[in-house]
Amino acid sequence: MQPRVFPAMYWFITFIIMIFIRGSTLVFANDDERYVNCSNLFDCGDIKGVGYPFSGSNRPEYCGYPGLKLDCSDQDPEITIQKLTYKVLDINYQSRNLSVARKDYAENICPTLLLNTTWIPNLLNYTSDDHNITIYYGCPAQGAPSFANSSQFPCTAMTGYFTAVSDLSAFDSFPSNLISYLASCNDSIEVPVRESALQKIVSAPTVTQLLEGLNEGFDFVWNDSLCVTCKASGGQCGYNQNTAAFSCYCKDQPREFSCQQSPPGAQSPTAAQSPSMSSCLLLFFSAGVTLEVNRKTA
Ligand SMILES: *[C@@H]1O[C@H](CO)[C@@H](O)[C@H](O)[C@H]1NC(C)=O
Ligand SMILES: *[C@@H]1O[C@H](CO)[C@@H](O)[C@H](O)[C@H]1NC(C)=O
Ligand SMILES: *[C@@H]1O[C@H](CO)[C@@H](O)[C@H](O)[C@H]1NC(C)=O
Ligand SMILES: *[C@@H]1O[C@H](CO)[C@@H](O)[C@H](O)[C@H]1NC(C)=O
Ligand SMILES: *[C@@H]1O[C@H](CO)[C@@H](O)[C@H](O)[C@H]1NC(C)=O
Ligand SMILES: *[C@@H]1O[C@H](CO)[C@@H](O)[C@H](O)[C@H]1NC(C)=O
Ligand SMILES: *[C@@H]1O[C@H](CO)[C@@H](O)[C@H](O)[C@H]1NC(C)=O
Ligand SMILES: *[C@@H]1O[C@H](CO)[C@@H](O)[C@H](O)[C@H]1NC(C)=O
Repeated sequence: MQPRVFPAMYWFITFIIMIFIRGSTLVFANDDERYVNCSNLFDCGDIKGVGYPFSGSNRPEYCGYPGLKLDCSDQDPEITIQKLTYKVLDINYQSRNLSVARKDYAENICPTLLLNTTWIPNLLNYTSDDHNITIYYGCPAQGAPSFANSSQFPCTAMTGYFTAVSDLSAFDSFPSNLISYLASCNDSIEVPVRESALQKIVSAPTVTQLLEGLNEGFDFVWNDSLCVTCKASGGQCGYNQNTAAFSCYCKDQPREFSCQQSPPGAQSPTAAQSPSMSSCLLLFFSAGVTLEVNRKTA
């Protein structure tokens, strides 16, 4: 190579780099807003770095699973899952673990509305550490048999009764006078507690102990399988409310599961789509710019 060539090379490379920087900025400015917005994480009280499957704060609802919206207006973060409001105690992204306590049992064993604890099929499930306690309401005030792990308690205008058994099949072994007493109660609900709380309630089946156990909360684990695939392909996880299905927000557009699946007829995003770039430069350099951008994001 002749020495005279170097200055020309220098300017040529600088030129390429300038275009690359300009081009990549423009591509960034063109990133799908849902991709950008769903890459936000937020803090909610003591809960840090909240992301999918949750929405709330700076994460619009399409960035989370429907209903999993954290309410951070208070110091105590809350979430309402199918009508029931829970205090959020912890979110653990390693074990995909959402620890919550029912808010309606924060102070009182007699809620005004009787609701079973519900989960979300395919997304939220209980863990093996969760055990149901059955609480009966509207039971006859008289005639409650005393029985292990059980206690009667008063509510305004009705009588309650709870049995702490870790396995519903235990009901089969109940004495017949207890079975017929429970059958005469008007309502029952299932509330989960952790194994450790269950042990304390079993050793002292009092309302105080039960309330304490309920407020220690229990865990939901969430199903991450779709999100793992999406994230690995460079996308941000979310939900498409129109199709009522998971959505993977990619830099250029939302896709069903992964940013690596190319929809029929779609072009890969290049600097060529940047409107402010002159066509002359495009003609010569768009291939190079695309290569650079791809290499950078790879
Ligand atoms: C994304 O977030 C910005 C800033 O909060 C907001 O102005 C914009 O409307 C959001 N875009 C979409 C598509 O929700
Ligand atoms: C979930 O988190 C809670 C509190 O951080 C912890 O006690 C529990 O063991 C965790 N459960 C699982 C299944 O990781
Ligand atoms: C997790 O979600 C996927 C997709 O919805 C589903 O196919 C799978 O059965 C779920 N797994 C569990 C353990 O719920
Ligand atoms: C949900 O959890 C229960 C109890 O831990 C388990 O038996 C069941 O298989 C789980 N279901 C799914 C879909 O993960
Ligand atoms: C608790 O009870 C519900 C029914 O209300 C049941 O679907 C769920 O599997 C039970 N959970 C455990 C941990 O036994
Ligand atoms: C059960 O409900 C019925 C109808 O509302 C009511 O008449 C009855 O007193 C209730 N039983 C108890 C034990 O509260
Ligand atoms: C009381 O609860 C403990 C712990 O779950 C259980 O081992 C025991 O069988 C229960 N007793 C009865 C009579 O159900
Ligand atoms: C709660 O679930 C139990 C067991 O599935 C059911 O028997 C009971 O009627 C439910 N209670 C309410 C208030 O829905």
